[in-house]
Amino acid sequence: MVLSDKSLQFIELESAYGAHNYHPLPVVLSKGKGVYVWDVDGKQYFDFLSAYSAVNQGHCHPKIVQALTEQAQTLCLTSRAFYNDCLGPYEELAHRIFGYDKILPMNSGAEAVETALKLARKWGYQKKGIPDNKALIVACANNFHGRTISIVSFSTDPEAHNEYGPYTPGIETVPYNDADALKHIFAKKADFIAGFLVEPIQGEAGVVVPDDGYLKTCYDLCKQNHILFIADEVQTGICRTGKMLCCDHEGVRPDMVILGKALSGGVLPVSAVLADNEVMLTVKAGQHGSTFGGFPLACKVSMAALRVAEEERLSEKAERLGTVFRDEMGDFSSPFIEKIRGKGLLNAVVIKPQNGKKAWDVCLKMAENGLLAKPTHEHIIRFAPPLVISEDELRTAIGIIKKSIRALE
Ligand SMILES: Cc1ncc(COP(=O)(O)O)c(C=O)c1O
Repeated sequence: MVLSDKSLQFIELESAYGAHNYHPLPVVLSKGKGVYVWDVDGKQYFDFLSAYSAVNQGHCHPKIVQALTEQAQTLCLTSRAFYNDCLGPYEELAHRIFGYDKILPMNSGAEAVETALKLARKWGYQKKGIPDNKALIVACANNFHGRTISIVSFSTDPEAHNEYGPYTPGIETVPYNDADALKHIFAKKADFIAGFLVEPIQGEAGVVVPDDGYLKTCYDLCKQNHILFIADEVQTGICRTGKMLCCDHEGVRPDMVILGKALSGGVLPVSAVLADNEVMLTVKAGQHGSTFGGFPLACKVSMAALRVAEEERLSEKAERLGTVFRDEMGDFSSPFIEKIRGKGLLNAVVIKPQNGKKAWDVCLKMAENGLLAKPTHEHIIRFAPPLVISEDELRTAIGIIKKSIRALE
């Protein structure tokens, strides 16, 4: 890719003054609208990453931006030391949409995961009767739940995990998509296990979709063993996979749901845990919180983001257009394509390197042709456009993907 001087300038600034904890594609963005973003030179791209599924409602959705700007001029932050007139209405809306007794608002996805782990431990001691400091959580291999010390403690990805020890104890992993492994660990340790934490689809691992029935089987095992089923829907939630929650595909109602990303339509860092009273009320005043969690600005933005998801029927769109994507890509034969998988508009193409060209080169070529996506784990490209994309736009984008792959053959 040939970079303009202007782009290079911004890339060099980041390199000089920012931590090197990311490896971005060499594209410098300055504007977004709906399914499109523009770089500093005015070139337009389809955004097929959607900020890791945070921008399900499309860039700068007018209703969400309006909620943001109106509230920003009224009251931004109060802290939870006082009541405010936004939090209650937000909590009530979340109750109506998701059907849980309560919501606990946080900011980043990782914080919401931490919150769920803390709630599970509290519940384990208070309700299940696990002896003090003996509670276990079971998670899955190849998980991605965020970047805190506790979360990376049970990451099986060396990049995320190594050299961050000493690690938080009390969280064990079993292979993903292996209900027998879960059954086995429950058989050995159920009395100490407070919760099972699972991504309904493993997004960061490369859009790994478990077998049909896996989530339901795991849920039933949890119920049989008095263990909380905790779904991390930070990436899969808010219509991305064709349902409001990915667990809805199997009729599973988790004991706890973790949300983030698209909960604000990508406008602010907003996350939350949903649970019923039996779990949520185990945490009392002063035992958990965050200065910004549930702040007025976030509440108004999140309410707008949820309403847009409902009003624009983003679940149905994701379901229908996801099929178009997989059918179209499935009919496309190329030595570069090993596999296509996904649900709704959370899809991935597994790339088989050819002529020294890898997933990264495919992404560069697509960027050149006007579409942005990013490899995950070297050989997998995730395709997750904003859910406001139209069928015509999707078909145009698929044309760009095919053309880019062809150009490298
Ligand atoms: C499933 C899942 N959980 C948690 C997180 C962490 O969210 P955040 O980056 O907002 O902390 C992510 C981020 O990609 C995620 O995909």
